Amino acid sequence: MSKETKFKPSASFVKQSAFPSLARYKSMHRESVKNPKKFWDRLAKEELDWFAEPKKVLEWKEPFSKWFGGGKLNVSFNCLDRHLQSGRRHKAAIIFEGEPGDIRVLTYQQLHDEVCRLANALKGEGVKPGDRVMIYLPMIPEAAIAMLACARIGAVHSVVFGGFSAESLKDRILDCGAKLVITSDGGYRRGQVVGLKQNVDQAVASCPEVRRVIVLKRTGHIEKLNEVDRWWHDLVKDQPADCPPEKLDSEHPLFILYTSGSTGKPKGILHTTGGYLLGAHLTTKWVFDLKKTDLFWCTADVGWVTGHSYVVYGALSNGTTTLMYEGAPNQPEPDRFWSIIERHRVTVFYTAPTAIRAFIRWGDHWVKKHDLSSLRLLGSVGEPINPEAWLWYHRVIGGGRCPIVDTWWQTETGSHMITTLPGAHMMKPGSAGLPFFGVDVAVVDDQGKELKPGTQGKLVIRKPWPSMLRTIHGDPERYAKQYWSEVPGTYFTGDGARMDKDGYFWVIGRMDDVLNVSGHRLGTAEVESALVTHPAVAEAAVVGRPDDLKGQAVVAFVTLKSGQKAGSELVAALREQVSKEIGPIAKPDQIRFAEALPKTRSGKIMRRLLKEVAAGGAVKGDVTTLEDLNVIAALQSSSGEES
Ligand code: WTA
Repeated sequence: MSKETKFKPSASFVKQSAFPSLARYKSMHRESVKNPKKFWDRLAKEELDWFAEPKKVLEWKEPFSKWFGGGKLNVSFNCLDRHLQSGRRHKAAIIFEGEPGDIRVLTYQQLHDEVCRLANALKGEGVKPGDRVMIYLPMIPEAAIAMLACARIGAVHSVVFGGFSAESLKDRILDCGAKLVITSDGGYRRGQVVGLKQNVDQAVASCPEVRRVIVLKRTGHIEKLNEVDRWWHDLVKDQPADCPPEKLDSEHPLFILYTSGSTGKPKGILHTTGGYLLGAHLTTKWVFDLKKTDLFWCTADVGWVTGHSYVVYGALSNGTTTLMYEGAPNQPEPDRFWSIIERHRVTVFYTAPTAIRAFIRWGDHWVKKHDLSSLRLLGSVGEPINPEAWLWYHRVIGGGRCPIVDTWWQTETGSHMITTLPGAHMMKPGSAGLPFFGVDVAVVDDQGKELKPGTQGKLVIRKPWPSMLRTIHGDPERYAKQYWSEVPGTYFTGDGARMDKDGYFWVIGRMDDVLNVSGHRLGTAEVESALVTHPAVAEAAVVGRPDDLKGQAVVAFVTLKSGQKAGSELVAALREQVSKEIGPIAKPDQIRFAEALPKTRSGKIMRRLLKEVAAGGAVKGDVTTLEDLNVIAALQSSSGEES
């Protein structure tokens, strides 16, 4: 596909959009970057409700930022109470569909009451502002209720995706020092009950600080609780439906969300109150060009940042109706998403390229069975979208009528950074588009020099922005080193990109040892350390291999301790080991046994070489005989390919 293929939103879409012209976007963007303090100050005051108005927009001591100093607010007040005074009081806040087909609707008033009851119960358990609370729940309204209840009393939540193992949950509980865990007796996924509670039991056994586990009844398959456990319904039953929101400093921590980096274990990304909410709120409002009548469906799990910013905070602070679906896209059949859109009349649909590629594979006939005429806007997030998938999404799901916003951002950025602004921008399939307001992004070389359009380099952000991460929980040095040392004076995203002559950004993918598997971030170092915990393994090196469906597949090269035998049994055991240590999402797609790993003279594993070997495609399935990679390494190093 030529880079110049452009799509224009329809005239009627443009006419109704908040930003109907490129010129308007350009002048506003120019202004926002030239004078960010003025820009953000105005919007913070216009868009959010404050108990005390901010006095100092930004305090910047690179790499640490403080936004809206002197300001006091509460995220749950902004997401709930302020709508009760408006005409939205009895509007649906959450429309939920469970995998078995159960449907629940919570109005803003009802959501407020549930949040208050749980907030009061948390207080009753001794939770104080600043305390960390772990949330390990399925995609059910209680996940949002738990997050908002924490926000209401100033507790810091850390949501762990239900697909992570007991071991991962334990690491996160210990790292953030949580004393309370909120979970359920399970959830439904692919027709099965996912046993979240067993994982919590196992994790909590090694976390002596945890003094309470709150258990929501979802599936009803657990009869008896442990001593530390209490049923959610018992704790909230006598609580008042009113709990005054804490008046919190703008920089009060809101949540810690763990994400993979290039080294070691996942890091706790810390987001705070005012700046984060402003970023999530404004991008939801403008990028999805929200209307009063929208039903907004972001398919991400709340365990990921997309679920935080777009299922919960951004959607609710705008008073829109957000749809939550608990289960798999192909349960009971591959048309589940389309039947949900038809049944509830979803208007804005936001999903990931990996899902779109799966839908393409399952076939258009599943889509054709449904009336998707309620849709007016589509979104993509998580990885670069290949133009073929973009075109299919546009034509088959969007009926050629719905603009697509391709949103580039990260757990660390809190909200969209580069994105199509529908109405104002032409769309170029495969490009995330132009920078959002106040965002100063550039493609630079190793010295930080801006590169000419068309040249690939490092994607950096040159100015602080309100929803940026504040630090890595408990490790400010690592925060400074990881993000602010690679290209001096700028935030390095870890991504490679190029900008074209129209200023559109084309993100190529990660430049570090982070994989993007089905839109999920995975550190190669994490998978490697999971593999070497197996007694048979001497060394492991993990690389990504291009994959048509998942974007990247995980390939592990493994050397064994003497006397250990390579074979399919060991392959199965190693995959299981990774699942146990991290979670099923990290299971290697291929495990290859080697005599030795190719290394440079200084002893560094030659990852670039392994990537090439992995992508070679010559070997299908798991390789259960020993490969002599040193032969290839010797060939490569003799031709000067050491890296
Ligand atoms: C990738 C997910 C291209 C990118 C919101 C980034 C994308 C990482 C896009 C962050 C996009 C996300 N186009 N690449 N529209 N969106 N990425 O923290 O490599 O889970 O650095 O946040 O996903 O992943 P994270």
